[in-house]
Amino acid sequence: MTHKVALLGFGVVGQGFVEILEERGDFISDLLNEEIKIVAISDIKKGSLYHPEGLNLSKLIETVSQTGSLDAYPDTSGLIRGWDSFQTIQESNADTVVEITFTDVKTGQPAIDHCKLAFKNKKNVVMSNKGPVSLAYQELAELAKTNGVRWGVEGTVMSGTPSLRMPIVSLVGNNITEIRGILNGTTNYILTKMEEGLSYTEALVEAQSLGYAEADPISDIEGYDAQYKITILANLIMNIPIKREGVERKGISHLTQQDIQWAKSEGKRWKLIAECSKNGDEVVTKVGPRAIPINDPLAGVMGVQNAITYNCDLAGQITLIGPGAGKNETGFSILIDLINIIRGQL
Ligand code: HSE
Repeated sequence: MTHKVALLGFGVVGQGFVEILEERGDFISDLLNEEIKIVAISDIKKGSLYHPEGLNLSKLIETVSQTGSLDAYPDTSGLIRGWDSFQTIQESNADTVVEITFTDVKTGQPAIDHCKLAFKNKKNVVMSNKGPVSLAYQELAELAKTNGVRWGVEGTVMSGTPSLRMPIVSLVGNNITEIRGILNGTTNYILTKMEEGLSYTEALVEAQSLGYAEADPISDIEGYDAQYKITILANLIMNIPIKREGVERKGISHLTQQDIQWAKSEGKRWKLIAECSKNGDEVVTKVGPRAIPINDPLAGVMGVQNAITYNCDLAGQITLIGPGAGKNETGFSILIDLINIIRGQL
């Protein structure tokens, strides 16, 4: 058996996913009794390829790493070039569309339209793109359900760290009354470096040079990125149908060395905390800097790491710590959703 996949976008995440598939393909086929094949890639800058029998993974990696484009991928009988994303969704034989195009969190497009078209064409979607999930979760989840297909979004919060699957699968049956998390690596890195004596600007420049920050770092620093992620958690984990505009938000750009030193003297530490709590009908969702006590499980999470604490009525307080970004980590998030789709467990 074969599970056929089309990639929309072939940036860092897509390349990471293809590299993992190339390296672990045999293990995955043995595990699932089914082979995952990439039949199509459509990238607005790098070009597009489609072959109904599957593309050659090592040639894909070699071509893109050597030339930065897919144009030099060798011609084979049956190969089609030049399809745009919508044609790829509609005309390819893919069972699952992996949506990893550029994230536009203001409009969620074109990713929202990609999801709609894929669902209407009875194709599953897997994505690490936060836009559609934080802007249109209820509508898209309903559309996937109506069309009898699956929608995997593990990579949208904390990349390959199972921030969504762990509560949904392993903590099912609990009433999760509160989620508090450090959901943005860039701001956590800046706050850590400020504690080490760097100024806010020096720390930001370092975070950008290490590739942690979003293309527009305002999204990290002013708390928008964390706002999108807590919106996703509220919808998926706590079943709160909130939209991102409903989440109160404040960033860290106003924090100074003086604030950092004050927190230290009080036995506290600044963290950008995204939180969501439910008490009967009362729902609170917000993002902002908090000086938290040093013995809070989130206070020890330093550098670019992310973490979430889930308050469960049966299992107690559980904290998950792990990476929130990265080529392998996000590539893995795509793989784990695909594995669960193939197993019928998503
Ligand atoms: N810019 C994000 C962060 C990347 O710093 O956490 C992952 O969404």
